Amino acid sequence: MGSMNSKLRFEEAITITPTDFRSAMSRFASAVHIVTTAGEAGRRGVTATAVVGVSDDPATVLVCLNASNAENRRFDVNGSFAVNVLSAEGERLAQAFSGRGGLSPEERFALGRWRLLSTGAPVLMDALVAFDCRLVEFRTIATHHVLIGKVEAVLEGPPAPPLLYHARGYRLL
Ligand SMILES: Cc1cc2nc3c(=O)[nH]c(=O)nc-3n(C[C@H](O)[C@H](O)[C@H](O)COP(=O)(O)O)c2cc1C
Repeated sequence: MGSMNSKLRFEEAITITPTDFRSAMSRFASAVHIVTTAGEAGRRGVTATAVVGVSDDPATVLVCLNASNAENRRFDVNGSFAVNVLSAEGERLAQAFSGRGGLSPEERFALGRWRLLSTGAPVLMDALVAFDCRLVEFRTIATHHVLIGKVEAVLEGPPAPPLLYHARGYRLL
């Protein structure tokens, strides 16, 4: 029964096109983050679902950012970043930092309240939780830059439900 329901038989699933992969990834339910940086290369924030914890000792996180966007080099040059995990209230910020509405970087940042912790990357005061990280590795793998950061500070906001992204839309628990 299971195999009859499969979209592709195994022997047909050898070439995974970008469209196939995006469609498959849309089945993932993800947390939604704004990944920020500031420093000599300037301030930037990007809505990202591609974030994962790597290690708890030392506390380490990983973020994937599109390499075709030259603005994302700022994370490498600045050498630090913050991962801001959005609460259910954060959809407007997520939209703005994904480029929806065509706001300038200043207008995007004006939608939130930010503070600095350890590295100088902007930390969202209303985040569910934020991880302030020193960049320890920056590698380009295929279409994406993979940033690995050592967590230098954590800000835990008040407990709240998270913002999720699934099947190409924002969802609430
Ligand atoms: C829900 C959602 C998740 C996203 N996840 C990522 C991601 O993990 N990595 C990434 O590089 N871009 C991701 N993007 C796209 C970026 O947010 C978008 O390309 C970027 O903010 C555009 O920046 P710009 O307008 O400053 O060029 C995501 C967009 C949305 C709506």
